[in-house]
Amino acid sequence: MELAERIRQVAEEAERMLGTCEDLEELEALRVRYLGRKGALTLLLREIGKLPPEERPIAGRAGSEAKEKLEGLFRECREVLRRTQARKEALDVTLPGRRPPLGKRHPLTQIMDEIVDIFRGMGFEVVEGPEIETEYHNFDALNTPPDHPARDLHDTFYVEGGRLLRTHTSPVQIRVMESRRPPLRVLSPGRCYRNDTPDATHSPIFHQVEGLYVDRDVSFADLKGVIATFARQMFGPDVKVRFRPDFFPFTEPSAEYSFSCVFCGGKGCRVCKYTGWIEISGAGMVDPEVFKNVGYDPEEYIGFAFGMGVERLAMLKYGITDIRLFLENDLRFLEQF
Ligand code: PHE
Repeated sequence: MELAERIRQVAEEAERMLGTCEDLEELEALRVRYLGRKGALTLLLREIGKLPPEERPIAGRAGSEAKEKLEGLFRECREVLRRTQARKEALDVTLPGRRPPLGKRHPLTQIMDEIVDIFRGMGFEVVEGPEIETEYHNFDALNTPPDHPARDLHDTFYVEGGRLLRTHTSPVQIRVMESRRPPLRVLSPGRCYRNDTPDATHSPIFHQVEGLYVDRDVSFADLKGVIATFARQMFGPDVKVRFRPDFFPFTEPSAEYSFSCVFCGGKGCRVCKYTGWIEISGAGMVDPEVFKNVGYDPEEYIGFAFGMGVERLAMLKYGITDIRLFLENDLRFLEQF
């Protein structure tokens, strides 16, 4: 057989073998077998020199074509195998999968759900109001006059259009009474805003729960009973409740109420500043002026309202001493609840 023909056959054979290579080592072995110093093709190419001069050009052309083509194919093949190998090393499909972290409710959400559960048990219904409020609902309708310090720029975030970020959940009282008639027994958890500098006990964003009970025959004793029942369900049967006179423009009479310190059982400790009590929020009988503002006859209806500081309750329940932890989104903190 002509040398040129043998060269072409060996080259075709090498090309076929290329398709069976599975990794770089196999490929290298194959290259040595055909193109190495003693490779099948190399040996054939050497024979070209021994041919009579007139036969050399044909065999020579076949030889260099075959060599060039094979070298190119080996290069391509090496590149492809290198890439798949790198990918395989990066992705070990035999490793066990990573478990996606399971989310859970924020501690404040957990406390709010717990509060809502307890009041649902007492017949309260959950309602919601907007966080961006009118000055009317946040202040005027709640009998809070224009010169009241709570309306000051230093205390309240005002936004465009004469609106503001509600400073408490009490405007929801107004919205509910504007749209419905008694009897009412509603609870409204939600976010509030005050222009406060953050520290361990102040946060410009915080949460309250508002309670409102309106009917024909509601007394301050009912208010005390409801708050005491809540306290015992939230903190256990031994917790005590204290009401002291206070002032709010939208309740009359008004009180601030406290729970006996859950850390020291009322004996006095650092958390309760050695008073044995921890203040929760304010409460009172709905002021007749508020009833007039929503078109209720104060001679016909009577009711009570109360607030609750959600962060404060959560701090008590979980023994947290810095309110800022709730907003930092630090998973090391959040994962503990
Ligand atoms: N809204 C009052 C506050 O933020 C609390 C309160 C609610 C007082 C309802 C009385 C009645 O301090």
